[in-house]
Amino acid sequence: MAEIINGKEIAENILNNIKKEVENFDIKPALAVIIVGCNPASKVYVKNKIKKSEFLGFNSILKELPENTSKEELLTVIKKLNDDENVNGILLQLPLPKGLDEKDFLDEISPIKDVDGFTTYNSGKLFKGEKPYAVACTPKGIIKLLEAKNINLEGKLAVVVGRSNIVGKPISALLLQKNATVIQAHSKTKNLSEILNMADIIVSATGKEEFIKGEMIKKGAVIIDVGITRNKNGKLTGDVDFESVFNKASYITPVPGGVGPMTISCLMENTLELYKLQKGME
Ligand code: GUN
Repeated sequence: MAEIINGKEIAENILNNIKKEVENFDIKPALAVIIVGCNPASKVYVKNKIKKSEFLGFNSILKELPENTSKEELLTVIKKLNDDENVNGILLQLPLPKGLDEKDFLDEISPIKDVDGFTTYNSGKLFKGEKPYAVACTPKGIIKLLEAKNINLEGKLAVVVGRSNIVGKPISALLLQKNATVIQAHSKTKNLSEILNMADIIVSATGKEEFIKGEMIKKGAVIIDVGITRNKNGKLTGDVDFESVFNKASYITPVPGGVGPMTISCLMENTLELYKLQKGME
Protein backbone atom coordinates (compact mmCIF):
# COMPACT_ATOMS: atom_id res chain seq x y z
CA MET A 1 0.00 0.00 0.00
CA ALA A 2 1.22 3.44 -0.90
CA GLU A 3 1.76 6.45 1.30
CA ILE A 4 -0.57 9.24 0.22
CA ILE A 5 1.29 12.51 -0.30
CA ASN A 6 -0.83 15.18 1.36
CA GLY A 7 -0.33 18.12 -0.99
CA LYS A 8 -2.95 20.18 0.81
CA GLU A 9 -1.00 20.09 4.07
CA ILE A 10 2.38 20.77 2.45
CA ALA A 11 0.85 23.63 0.45
CA GLU A 12 -0.71 25.15 3.57
CA ASN A 13 2.65 25.14 5.34
CA ILE A 14 4.15 27.07 2.45
CA LEU A 15 1.31 29.60 2.56
CA ASN A 16 1.61 30.06 6.32
CA ASN A 17 5.34 30.74 6.02
CA ILE A 18 4.71 33.30 3.28
CA LYS A 19 1.98 34.96 5.37
CA LYS A 20 4.31 35.34 8.35
CA GLU A 21 7.06 36.82 6.20
CA VAL A 22 4.75 39.28 4.47
CA GLU A 23 3.35 40.57 7.77
CA ASN A 24 6.65 42.40 8.25
CA PHE A 25 6.48 44.22 4.90
CA ASP A 26 5.17 47.79 4.74
CA ILE A 27 4.60 47.46 1.02
CA LYS A 28 2.85 44.21 0.15
CA PRO A 29 3.63 42.05 -2.88
CA ALA A 30 1.11 42.58 -5.67
CA LEU A 31 -0.14 39.96 -8.10
CA ALA A 32 -2.08 40.88 -11.24
CA VAL A 33 -4.21 38.19 -12.87
CA ILE A 34 -5.60 38.65 -16.37
CA ILE A 35 -8.49 36.49 -17.55
CA VAL A 36 -9.95 36.84 -21.01
CA GLY A 37 -13.41 35.41 -21.71
CA CYS A 38 -15.48 33.08 -19.57
CA ASN A 39 -13.94 29.60 -19.57
CA PRO A 40 -15.67 28.17 -16.45
CA ALA A 41 -12.64 26.19 -15.19
CA SER A 42 -10.38 29.23 -15.65
CA LYS A 43 -12.85 31.39 -13.72
CA VAL A 44 -12.66 29.00 -10.75
CA TYR A 45 -8.84 28.86 -10.89
CA VAL A 46 -8.58 32.65 -11.06
CA LYS A 47 -11.02 33.12 -8.18
CA ASN A 48 -8.89 30.78 -6.06
CA LYS A 49 -5.68 32.60 -6.99
CA ILE A 50 -7.16 35.95 -5.97
CA LYS A 51 -8.59 34.49 -2.76
CA LYS A 52 -5.25 32.99 -1.73
CA SER A 53 -3.32 36.17 -2.50
CA GLU A 54 -5.75 38.14 -0.35
CA PHE A 55 -5.42 35.60 2.47
CA LEU A 56 -1.68 36.27 2.41
CA GLY A 57 -2.15 40.02 2.58
CA PHE A 58 -0.92 40.53 -0.99
CA ASN A 59 -2.45 43.21 -3.16
CA SER A 60 -4.34 41.53 -5.94
CA ILE A 61 -5.39 43.07 -9.20
CA LEU A 62 -7.95 41.23 -11.29
CA LYS A 63 -8.29 42.19 -14.94
CA GLU A 64 -11.37 40.53 -16.38
CA LEU A 65 -11.54 41.12 -20.12
CA PRO A 66 -14.40 40.16 -22.43
CA GLU A 67 -14.29 37.24 -24.87
CA ASN A 68 -14.03 39.62 -27.84
CA THR A 69 -10.94 41.46 -26.53
CA SER A 70 -8.60 42.38 -29.40
CA LYS A 71 -4.90 41.59 -29.58
CA GLU A 72 -4.07 45.29 -29.20
CA GLU A 73 -6.29 45.68 -26.12
CA LEU A 74 -4.69 42.71 -24.38
CA LEU A 75 -1.19 43.92 -25.27
CA THR A 76 -2.05 47.33 -23.79
CA VAL A 77 -3.21 45.74 -20.51
CA ILE A 78 0.02 43.73 -20.25
CA LYS A 79 2.16 46.76 -21.05
CA LYS A 80 0.46 48.87 -18.37
CA LEU A 81 1.05 46.16 -15.77
CA ASN A 82 4.71 45.83 -16.85
CA ASP A 83 5.15 49.60 -16.41
CA ASP A 84 3.36 49.74 -13.05
CA GLU A 85 6.01 49.51 -10.35
CA ASN A 86 3.35 48.58 -7.81
CA VAL A 87 2.75 45.29 -9.64
CA ASN A 88 5.24 42.50 -8.90
CA GLY A 89 3.72 39.52 -10.68
CA ILE A 90 1.64 39.20 -13.84
CA LEU A 91 -0.31 36.06 -14.74
CA LEU A 92 -2.19 35.60 -17.99
CA GLN A 93 -4.67 32.78 -17.42
CA LEU A 94 -4.64 30.14 -20.16
CA PRO A 95 -6.25 29.04 -22.37
CA LEU A 96 -7.11 32.23 -24.23
CA PRO A 97 -10.34 32.41 -26.21
CA LYS A 98 -10.38 31.51 -29.91
CA GLY A 99 -8.83 34.24 -32.00
CA LEU A 100 -6.09 35.07 -29.48
CA ASP A 101 -2.82 33.15 -29.64
CA GLU A 102 -0.89 32.83 -26.37
CA LYS A 103 2.38 33.08 -28.32
CA ASP A 104 1.56 36.72 -29.08
CA PHE A 105 1.28 37.61 -25.40
CA LEU A 106 3.38 35.45 -23.06
CA ASP A 107 6.66 37.00 -24.17
CA GLU A 108 5.21 40.48 -23.70
CA ILE A 109 5.19 39.90 -19.94
CA SER A 110 8.35 41.29 -18.39
CA PRO A 111 10.45 38.22 -17.38
CA ILE A 112 10.98 39.62 -13.87
CA LYS A 113 7.19 39.82 -13.41
CA ASP A 114 6.52 36.45 -15.08
CA VAL A 115 5.10 34.52 -12.08
CA ASP A 116 4.25 31.52 -14.25
CA GLY A 117 7.74 31.19 -15.70
CA PHE A 118 6.19 30.88 -19.17
CA THR A 119 8.25 33.51 -21.01
CA THR A 120 10.94 32.29 -23.38
CA TYR A 121 13.51 33.95 -21.14
CA ASN A 122 12.48 32.04 -18.01
CA SER A 123 11.73 28.72 -19.70
CA GLY A 124 14.99 29.03 -21.66
CA LYS A 125 16.92 29.54 -18.43
CA LEU A 126 15.21 26.48 -16.96
CA PHE A 127 16.11 24.32 -19.95
CA LYS A 128 19.74 25.44 -19.82
CA GLY A 129 19.92 24.52 -16.15
CA GLU A 130 20.39 28.19 -15.18
CA LYS A 131 18.35 30.13 -12.66
CA PRO A 132 15.13 31.60 -14.07
CA TYR A 133 13.36 34.44 -12.23
CA ALA A 134 10.45 32.04 -11.76
CA VAL A 135 9.79 28.36 -12.47
CA ALA A 136 6.36 27.19 -13.67
CA CYS A 137 4.15 26.61 -10.63
CA THR A 138 2.86 23.05 -11.11
CA PRO A 139 6.31 21.54 -11.88
CA LYS A 140 7.84 23.49 -9.01
CA GLY A 141 5.12 22.15 -6.71
CA ILE A 142 5.74 18.57 -7.83
CA ILE A 143 9.44 18.83 -6.97
CA LYS A 144 8.50 20.20 -3.54
CA LEU A 145 6.23 17.20 -2.96
CA LEU A 146 9.04 14.79 -3.86
CA GLU A 147 11.45 16.71 -1.62
CA ALA A 148 8.98 16.72 1.27
CA LYS A 149 9.06 12.92 1.16
CA ASN A 150 12.84 12.75 0.66
CA ILE A 151 12.36 10.85 -2.57
CA ASN A 152 15.74 10.57 -4.21
CA LEU A 153 15.65 11.08 -7.97
CA GLU A 154 19.26 10.48 -8.86
CA GLY A 155 19.60 7.76 -11.51
CA LYS A 156 15.90 6.90 -11.26
CA LEU A 157 13.77 6.40 -14.33
CA ALA A 158 11.12 9.13 -14.41
CA VAL A 159 8.41 8.87 -17.04
CA VAL A 160 6.48 12.07 -17.72
CA VAL A 161 3.24 11.56 -19.61
CA GLY A 162 2.29 14.77 -21.41
CA ARG A 163 4.38 17.41 -23.16
CA SER A 164 2.58 20.69 -22.47
CA ASN A 165 4.53 23.88 -21.93
CA ILE A 166 2.72 24.33 -18.61
CA VAL A 167 3.57 20.98 -17.01
CA GLY A 168 5.11 18.22 -19.16
CA LYS A 169 8.13 20.00 -20.57
CA PRO A 170 9.17 21.97 -17.49
CA ILE A 171 8.76 19.03 -15.09
CA SER A 172 11.04 16.98 -17.36
CA ALA A 173 13.66 19.73 -17.17
CA LEU A 174 13.44 19.83 -13.37
CA LEU A 175 13.64 16.04 -13.03
CA LEU A 176 16.68 16.04 -15.30
CA GLN A 177 18.30 18.69 -13.10
CA LYS A 178 17.82 16.28 -10.20
CA ASN A 179 19.72 13.66 -12.23
CA ALA A 180 16.74 11.47 -13.04
CA THR A 181 16.71 9.64 -16.38
CA VAL A 182 13.68 11.18 -18.02
CA ILE A 183 11.38 9.76 -20.68
CA GLN A 184 8.90 12.25 -22.12
CA ALA A 185 5.87 10.22 -23.22
CA HIS A 186 2.86 11.75 -24.97
CA SER A 187 -0.27 10.96 -26.95
CA LYS A 188 1.70 9.50 -29.87
CA THR A 189 3.98 7.32 -27.73
CA LYS A 190 3.86 3.65 -28.65
CA ASN A 191 3.90 0.90 -26.02
CA LEU A 192 3.18 3.33 -23.18
CA SER A 193 2.25 0.48 -20.82
CA GLU A 194 5.68 -1.12 -21.23
CA ILE A 195 7.42 2.19 -20.64
CA LEU A 196 5.33 2.95 -17.56
CA ASN A 197 6.10 -0.50 -16.25
CA MET A 198 9.80 0.37 -16.02
CA ALA A 199 9.29 3.73 -14.30
CA ASP A 200 10.47 4.47 -10.77
CA ILE A 201 8.52 7.74 -10.91
CA ILE A 202 5.52 8.56 -13.06
CA VAL A 203 4.26 12.11 -13.53
CA SER A 204 1.03 12.07 -15.50
CA ALA A 205 -0.47 15.25 -16.92
CA THR A 206 -2.88 14.21 -19.65
CA GLY A 207 -6.38 14.87 -18.32
CA LYS A 208 -7.38 11.35 -19.44
CA GLU A 209 -9.60 10.05 -16.69
CA GLU A 210 -8.13 7.16 -14.66
CA PHE A 211 -6.13 5.71 -17.56
CA ILE A 212 -3.13 4.58 -15.50
CA LYS A 213 -4.06 1.26 -13.89
CA GLY A 214 -2.27 -0.76 -11.25
CA GLU A 215 -1.22 -3.41 -13.75
CA MET A 216 0.68 -0.77 -15.79
CA ILE A 217 3.07 0.28 -13.02
CA LYS A 218 6.09 -1.25 -11.33
CA LYS A 219 5.75 -2.27 -7.67
CA GLY A 220 7.00 0.56 -5.46
CA ALA A 221 6.72 3.28 -8.12
CA VAL A 222 6.10 6.90 -7.07
CA ILE A 223 2.96 8.25 -8.74
CA ILE A 224 2.33 11.96 -9.25
CA ASP A 225 -1.10 12.65 -10.72
CA VAL A 226 -1.48 16.09 -12.27
CA GLY A 227 -4.73 15.34 -14.12
CA ILE A 228 -7.98 16.72 -12.82
CA THR A 229 -11.24 16.13 -14.62
CA ARG A 230 -14.85 16.01 -13.52
CA ASN A 231 -16.31 12.64 -14.47
CA LYS A 232 -19.87 12.02 -15.57
CA ASN A 233 -20.96 11.54 -11.96
CA GLY A 234 -19.62 14.99 -11.06
CA LYS A 235 -16.66 13.57 -9.10
CA LEU A 236 -13.14 14.99 -9.55
CA THR A 237 -10.78 12.33 -10.84
CA GLY A 238 -7.16 12.21 -11.93
CA ASP A 239 -5.19 10.41 -14.65
CA VAL A 240 -4.65 7.54 -12.26
CA ASP A 241 -7.03 4.77 -11.22
CA PHE A 242 -6.36 5.42 -7.55
CA GLU A 243 -7.63 2.16 -6.11
CA SER A 244 -5.62 -0.27 -8.24
CA VAL A 245 -2.47 1.92 -8.24
CA PHE A 246 -2.62 2.59 -4.49
CA ASN A 247 -2.00 -1.08 -3.71
CA LYS A 248 1.17 -1.24 -5.78
CA ALA A 249 2.81 2.19 -5.55
CA SER A 250 5.11 3.41 -2.76
CA TYR A 251 3.80 7.01 -2.87
CA ILE A 252 0.80 8.52 -4.61
CA THR A 253 -0.75 11.98 -4.82
CA PRO A 254 -4.54 12.12 -4.42
CA VAL A 255 -6.94 14.08 -6.64
CA PRO A 256 -8.05 16.47 -5.31
CA GLY A 257 -5.60 17.46 -2.56
CA GLY A 258 -2.32 16.47 -4.18
CA VAL A 259 -0.67 18.55 -6.88
CA GLY A 260 -3.45 21.16 -7.23
CA PRO A 261 -2.92 23.01 -3.93
CA MET A 262 0.85 23.02 -4.55
CA THR A 263 0.38 24.91 -7.83
CA ILE A 264 -1.33 27.78 -6.09
CA SER A 265 1.15 27.88 -3.19
CA CYS A 266 4.03 28.01 -5.66
CA LEU A 267 2.32 30.84 -7.50
CA MET A 268 2.23 32.78 -4.25
CA GLU A 269 5.85 31.87 -3.52
CA ASN A 270 6.86 33.02 -7.00
CA THR A 271 5.05 36.33 -6.44
CA LEU A 272 6.96 36.84 -3.19
CA GLU A 273 10.29 35.89 -4.79
CA LEU A 274 9.77 38.29 -7.71
CA TYR A 275 8.79 41.05 -5.27
CA LYS A 276 12.04 40.50 -3.38
CA LEU A 277 14.09 40.47 -6.58
CA GLN A 278 12.48 43.70 -7.72
CA LYS A 279 13.16 45.31 -4.33
CA GLY A 280 16.76 44.09 -4.30
CA MET A 281 16.05 41.90 -1.26
CA GLU A 282 17.60 38.75 -2.80
N1 GUN B 1 -4.05 27.27 -17.08
C1 GUN B 1 -3.90 26.05 -16.50
N2 GUN B 1 -2.84 26.06 -15.67
C2 GUN B 1 -2.31 27.30 -15.71
C3 GUN B 1 -1.21 27.92 -15.07
O1 GUN B 1 -0.48 27.32 -14.27
N3 GUN B 1 -1.00 29.22 -15.38
C4 GUN B 1 -1.77 29.90 -16.27
N4 GUN B 1 -1.47 31.18 -16.51
N5 GUN B 1 -2.79 29.36 -16.88
C5 GUN B 1 -3.07 28.06 -16.60
